[in-house]
Amino acid sequence: MYVEPAVVRRETLMGEGEAKVVIADAREALKRMAAERPGSVSLIYMDPPFMTGQQFYARLRVGESGWKGGKGEIQLPSYSDTMNREEYAAFMRDVLLPCRELLADDGLIFIHLDYRAAARVRILADEIFGENNFVNELIWAYESGGRSRRFFARKHDVILLYSKTQDYDLHIEDAATLLRQDRKNHLSRGVDEDGRAYRFIVSGGKTYRYYEDEPVPPSDVWTDISHLQQRDPQRLGYDNQKPVKLLERIIKAASRPGDTVLDPFCGAGTAQEAAVKAGRRFIGIDTCPLALSYAEKRRGGASLTLEGGEACGAPEFDVDLVPGITENRIYLTRFKVDDTDLAPLPEGFDGLDGWAAGYINGDEFVACDSETRLFTKPGLELCLSLPIEVEDPAVRLTDVLGRRFFFRVK
Ligand SMILES: C[S@@+](CC[C@H](N)C(=O)[O-])C[C@H]1O[C@@H](n2cnc3c(N)ncnc32)[C@H](O)[C@@H]1O
Repeated sequence: MYVEPAVVRRETLMGEGEAKVVIADAREALKRMAAERPGSVSLIYMDPPFMTGQQFYARLRVGESGWKGGKGEIQLPSYSDTMNREEYAAFMRDVLLPCRELLADDGLIFIHLDYRAAARVRILADEIFGENNFVNELIWAYESGGRSRRFFARKHDVILLYSKTQDYDLHIEDAATLLRQDRKNHLSRGVDEDGRAYRFIVSGGKTYRYYEDEPVPPSDVWTDISHLQQRDPQRLGYDNQKPVKLLERIIKAASRPGDTVLDPFCGAGTAQEAAVKAGRRFIGIDTCPLALSYAEKRRGGASLTLEGGEACGAPEFDVDLVPGITENRIYLTRFKVDDTDLAPLPEGFDGLDGWAAGYINGDEFVACDSETRLFTKPGLELCLSLPIEVEDPAVRLTDVLGRRFFFRVK
């Protein structure tokens, strides 16, 4: 069949729930959003650069064997975190100011940092949100490899929590968890009149009782969420990817179903996965075009809008359209990524990370059927279906470098 490249600004994948990811500089995208929809966001979680002075990478799985954990991985630069102190302060100011405008009056913002940036951002955030609106300094402590002898091993991140007003909507009880074994050890044991086991502590003349089978709201030190270990199946190869459990706790405690959650540095889409699972709307922003591929992988069946991340070059491929009675079928019969200096790829279908069949409406591609490689499904179907009423079919191909190419099928 004959295919013709198409210029597309936005892609929509149909589903239930709502997520959107935009490739843009957070400063500009937030400013635009704040002007268009002030007060529209209930929860902002951000995991920005931390002034580490490092270049970060994404290790991408190539083809079915790569996704099965076998041979096939390439490494691409994802972002560089090399701002100096003055640049960083100016950057965070440009990010936090529009965030304040975007937050609803009862909204909350979680700013994920480490020892390098926490003190600086605390002073800045006090100024922008108001010292009175500082809610918590959360400590996420984890175990990871490496112990220095020159200083105590740095094994925690800091998450600053601010509200916009005093009338904020935080329901910590929704993030309650069962008491961990190590915390139980500091408490005395008891059994009530119904035979239910509990632990208790007497403090300031008051007795605090915690039932073993009853979840307890977390304190400001979180030790029960593991760092992503090397072999964690959640790992998508993106440096600094956070565990879904961490985002689940934040989203459950600080938003309600139907609320909008915003992550202006969404990276590998951790907040998106947690938000969509919990029935929240999600908006993500990132400068790294790979964020679109991750967003598709983390979609969980929700409808997803993708914007930005211009494609360059073009893959070589062939498709066949087979008309049917109830639906048409599109077959991808050959695919080869054009040569790239960034990462030489194996021959064959391996360069393909996903594809979709649909139609183009103005400057938007609407996907009716799509496939992307996942741990749970490393192989790709090379046949997609299209409703019979689609008169001008189109396809989108995504390669392992995260580039997306759109074509009309003639
Ligand atoms: C620490 S990572 C976020 C990881 C993410 N929380 C996750 O779980 O995958 C920081 C992200 O900020 C993005 N970034 C850096 N500068 C940016 C900017 N000016 N605007 C938007 N995103 C930016 C990087 O591309 C990177 O994905």
